[in-house]
Amino acid sequence: MDILLNNKTNRMKNLRLFFAVIVLLFLQMETFAQADLRWYEKAIFYQIYPPSFKDFDGDGIGDIKGIIEKLDYVQSIGINAIWFTPMFSSPFKDGGYDVSDYYSIDKRYGTNDDMVQLIAKAHEKGLKLCLDLVIGHTSNENPWFVESSKGTNLRYSDYYIWTPFVPNEVKGKPTVRGNDIMGEDKYVPFKSARGNYYIKNFYDIQPALNFGFANPNPDHPWEQSIDAPGPQAVQREMKNVISFWMDKGIDGFRVDLASSIVKNDPGKKATIKVWQGLNLWFREKYPQGILIAEWFNPKQSSEAGFNIDFMRGGSLVSNRQGGEFQPTICYFARDGKGQLKDWYDQFIAQYDATKGKSYISLPTGNHDNPRLNAGDRNTTDQLKVTMTFFLTMPGIPVIYYGDEIGMKFLTGLYNKEGSQGDSSKNRAGSRTPMQWDSTKNAGFSTSGFWNLYLPVDKDPDRPNVAKEEQDSNSLLNYTRKLIQLRKSSKALSADGDWQLLSDVNKPYPMVYNRSAGGESFCIILNPTDKNLTVDIPTLKNNKASLVLGKAKGGYYKIGSPYDRINIGAVSALVFKME
Ligand code: GLC
Ligand code: MG
Repeated sequence: MDILLNNKTNRMKNLRLFFAVIVLLFLQMETFAQADLRWYEKAIFYQIYPPSFKDFDGDGIGDIKGIIEKLDYVQSIGINAIWFTPMFSSPFKDGGYDVSDYYSIDKRYGTNDDMVQLIAKAHEKGLKLCLDLVIGHTSNENPWFVESSKGTNLRYSDYYIWTPFVPNEVKGKPTVRGNDIMGEDKYVPFKSARGNYYIKNFYDIQPALNFGFANPNPDHPWEQSIDAPGPQAVQREMKNVISFWMDKGIDGFRVDLASSIVKNDPGKKATIKVWQGLNLWFREKYPQGILIAEWFNPKQSSEAGFNIDFMRGGSLVSNRQGGEFQPTICYFARDGKGQLKDWYDQFIAQYDATKGKSYISLPTGNHDNPRLNAGDRNTTDQLKVTMTFFLTMPGIPVIYYGDEIGMKFLTGLYNKEGSQGDSSKNRAGSRTPMQWDSTKNAGFSTSGFWNLYLPVDKDPDRPNVAKEEQDSNSLLNYTRKLIQLRKSSKALSADGDWQLLSDVNKPYPMVYNRSAGGESFCIILNPTDKNLTVDIPTLKNNKASLVLGKAKGGYYKIGSPYDRINIGAVSALVFKME
């Protein structure tokens, strides 16, 4: 009896232990899963423009195998996530933003199998990968479009927006910026069984997919509501595209022109509603995935359910109104004629509105805008100042390939695959081949130069990775240090608080504070060619220790009621405050 009882209690004990272990395991899995779900908060992205990164097969165009070869390099910078501009099948009339088949990788980059291999290799190294989802339009060579044009009651008829005529109220009117209200320019004449015009998004060869209209006009039967069968079918198709690649292991997407899918929606109410639905579906199906909006309005995109949205550096780094690059108007120029106010007002409004909800990304550059090295902002010291800014701001940093070595924005290039948006904006200058070493074509490709996607910078002193690896003062090694510092501190992370300490109306130098949980850093940026001194309301610290940057005689003197800071010409200083 006793033995029996003992056995019973033992069994009970064992059972309890067993359950306890299970519960513990489960809890641990939960926390692991939780940690992984929020990977994007710690992300430091790298943007790759695939045709210009690394050519493996020697045809002059970058490819997936080339990218695989260079993953170790990307990782060595401290990067842990990559996003690629579109790699799907395309006639390349807009650099791949004209997709002809969303379910296949374009053959110039490789195959779907190569992509799966890239995902596996990247994941082995702890790198996350995001593709570019061109959600709002396709190429006119996409079979959906071809089929759509054939009649009114076919499977794809309502995938696009077809009109019999240009309505009178639109005639002679240009589109309002941001596609908010469409003008005559959006109606592309195209006689077909389906209609006489279609609505385009960007170039004529980019017919807009039909996500519906915010307030359909009953006199315009082509203006369908966002809940109509056509727009709903388009949503289903895009969910299918998303699932297809997510199920292959991709970690998320950068969503092209996310803000403009619904037509004639100035307040973005309907667009936000559509995205709330899509984001909810996405998060339920892929809790580990992320969607990054190209919306340029974090407040709105956050409400729409996105994790991250871009904001342009705008007047800080470039001003291209008058040509390919006009350095003197921007903040990060050595003549010190820039201002901070416009950027600050926009940034702080967005920052305050989204803090704790979603993240702002200030990319160093991208395939649409000039690089950090542009015009007379071309010395390593100048580039270090700008890089310090981008890697010490809150939110999610994105380094555009080549910016970490100071590749130059080239002017005077020809129009390559739609790079020439309008006469003053040739984006080719930011899309030239990555400079790896001092061998032929800067190590980008073994092909003849006449086959190269775009010419390599011809400057004999052009920067390259191999050279900068060897130089402890290079921009590359400085960027690595900045990333290490950022990763080592909660205050400098995506979530740390940000506060401008200098007077917004006295723009030079720019002084700001990053803080979290009692940790605090002070960052001082002086892009100008003059030594500067500034007083800021005291931070009431006991000590300011320089953790990054060369003081060049500069200092941080703690005082009351002001702290006094001095900084040498063209330099950046990061102080840890204690
Ligand atoms: C986005 C892309 C740009 C492209 C445009 C049209 O703005 O970044 O490169 O030309 O969308 O798809
Ligand atoms: Mg190739």
